[in-house]
Amino acid sequence: MKKITITTLNEMKARGEKIVVLTSYDASFTRLSEEAGVDVLLVGDSLGMVIQGQESTLPVSVSDMVYHTANVARVSERALIVADMPFMSHGTPQQALDTAGRLMKAGGAHMVKIEGGAPQVETVRHLTERAVPVCAHLGLTPQSIHQLGGYRVQGREPEAASRLIEDAMALQQAGAQMLVLECVPAVLAEEVTRNLDIPVIGIGAGPDTDGQVLVLYDMLGISVNRIPSFAHDFLADTGSVPAALAAYVQAVRERRFPAKEHSFS
Ligand code: KIV
Repeated sequence: MKKITITTLNEMKARGEKIVVLTSYDASFTRLSEEAGVDVLLVGDSLGMVIQGQESTLPVSVSDMVYHTANVARVSERALIVADMPFMSHGTPQQALDTAGRLMKAGGAHMVKIEGGAPQVETVRHLTERAVPVCAHLGLTPQSIHQLGGYRVQGREPEAASRLIEDAMALQQAGAQMLVLECVPAVLAEEVTRNLDIPVIGIGAGPDTDGQVLVLYDMLGISVNRIPSFAHDFLADTGSVPAALAAYVQAVRERRFPAKEHSFS
């Protein structure tokens, strides 16, 4: 199996080939997801909600992230592994570097993901200048849920949309090599994707990003939480976990997912 690297993802963007991303938190689902052809495994701090039963992602610790990332990395043979930097683990550039070091050295992550815009630019530069690959995350950033006042679409107002575009450019400039865009209008996601050189991965961001990500338990319809409207239950369609994973990969590659009903205007 040929390993997926950031170079592979850049080439896929250049060819207009969709990148398939899925969250993973353990060895067994990692094996199945890779067999289905998933390109990037995101060890998301969504594990706080779907694995730990927390109300939000805020209680997740760096140790939790290292533990789950290591479970994924131990059996992974092909995918690029991205690990979330949890809430309050990247308040300063030096703290972020310490956290990223743990996620990469003890966890085996290939890249770390940081939520937030302009205030994270300095941190992203600090990490990327020290050989830590970074995925930025804009739009709905769940670690800011108490500031945002709920899980709702971001960037609808012209001012917020312009700020998001500026933040995306600044994060790319600071060295970010990938961007996750969560819960933003499809037209805004299309504009960001067209203007950035780095791969843009959408979730609730319409059909025109370079790739798609879903929370594994949402796409299997087994989450303890309400399944978001931008997700789809592939297990209900297919009847088995391997078939559901294969159907997700195929639907993203063939641009059938996300459809209009999974997008926001
Ligand atoms: O934590 C997570 O799973 C994420 C995805 C929803 C993008 O950040």
